[in-house]
Amino acid sequence: MAKSRVAAIDVGNDALKGIFGKLDHELYIPNIIAPDLEDRPVIGIEELDKKEVLDNIHIRVHSPALEENGVIYRVGNLATKTTNSQELDPGSSKSEEDQTLIMLFAALALDAVQSSDFKEKSDIVDANYTLGTGLPLREVKEGKDVGYRSQLLGSVHQVEFLVTPKHQGKKVNLKFDDVKVYPEGFAAYVNLVMDNDLKVINKELLDKQILIQDIGGLSTDIAVIRNRNVDDDKAQGFNLGVSESLEQIREEIRSRHGVELDSRRDIVDIITRKNNRHHIMVKGSRTNVHDITDHILLELAKKEYRFLRNVWSKNSQSEICYFVGGGSAVLKDYIKALNNKLDGYNIEFFEDEQESIWMMANAYYKLINQYIGTSSKDKKEDKAATEAK
Ligand SMILES: Nc1ncnc2c1ncn2[C@@H]1O[C@H](COP(=O)(O)OP(=O)(O)OP(=O)(O)O)[C@@H](O)[C@H]1O
Ligand SMILES: [Mg+2]
Repeated sequence: MAKSRVAAIDVGNDALKGIFGKLDHELYIPNIIAPDLEDRPVIGIEELDKKEVLDNIHIRVHSPALEENGVIYRVGNLATKTTNSQELDPGSSKSEEDQTLIMLFAALALDAVQSSDFKEKSDIVDANYTLGTGLPLREVKEGKDVGYRSQLLGSVHQVEFLVTPKHQGKKVNLKFDDVKVYPEGFAAYVNLVMDNDLKVINKELLDKQILIQDIGGLSTDIAVIRNRNVDDDKAQGFNLGVSESLEQIREEIRSRHGVELDSRRDIVDIITRKNNRHHIMVKGSRTNVHDITDHILLELAKKEYRFLRNVWSKNSQSEICYFVGGGSAVLKDYIKALNNKLDGYNIEFFEDEQESIWMMANAYYKLINQYIGTSSKDKKEDKAATEAK
């Protein structure tokens, strides 16, 4: 049988995070796509190959799982530079958007062409994966994980690289040997209690009732963990994330300073970068926009805090709430200040924003490896049992 490579992919509304193989490859791609023509103008191939692959993802995707098959897309950074780029809207279902699949397939194809696990023959790579991924709790509760999984498993999906540096003309045929779809909130819990070798860490957390509030680009999920499991009935998903506030900031910067920023990405950069945070250039002068970002982020923090109150009041015996997701990194100081002033809940943030952002992908990686480990052990035991007969 062809080799099956492990992939753990969090297709976030804001950005895709992927971990591959034996932790030998990682990908972070902003979740933006733009339909395109085949011939995007480029300079010679030598010039093209000098460019960054991740800034120039240009592909055609064939898959029966897609509503629109065979369409050409710019993906990630390249898509931000077009006028017809698509970022997901609140209320959309990840499991039902072509965009989710386009991002997923693009990431897998990018991994496949650089991995020594697969051989390339006349520009064609046949790549087999065992995938661990996830969907928001809300969609899993609605049972959408089942259709999503079978769509992936059911056919071969092809990614063709068009005007992409180093990979122009290559075709990757993606096939899934197995797919596991985990609910996002549960995954965060696994990440908190298990290390990469699947050993239990944070033992004291294991039997506590805890809350995990995941603030993402478009959604906030609060998972209630009891008896080492997500309590499905108690968990709550909200269609609110950081993206709307980013749009609001963009709009206010436009109306107050007449500066047009390309995408939400630019705003994220303005509010998170180490140097010159909360500053933009206006006609060549460095200009402070902290007043704008501050009141909009505070409003969002208040809403997020209300979600917490709401869920905590219905789960009064919770001992702690962990804040994860990139949104938690942005809102940390605001939420902490509100909590000090108001209820004083036992809440915890991750110091390292990267840890917050990669939480889900790390969790899927642990879970899928654990799954592979136990299923191959079962097979060995089955085999031993048959041989013993
Ligand atoms: N260093 C950073 N780089 C990128 N985004 C950051 C960073 N720090 C904080 N953020 C914020 O995190 C948000 C994205 O969070 P995250 O990656 O958890 O979302 P997501 O998982 O893609 O979305 P969702 O959970 O809704 O599907 C961005 O909108 C941004 O405001
Ligand atoms: Mg997320």
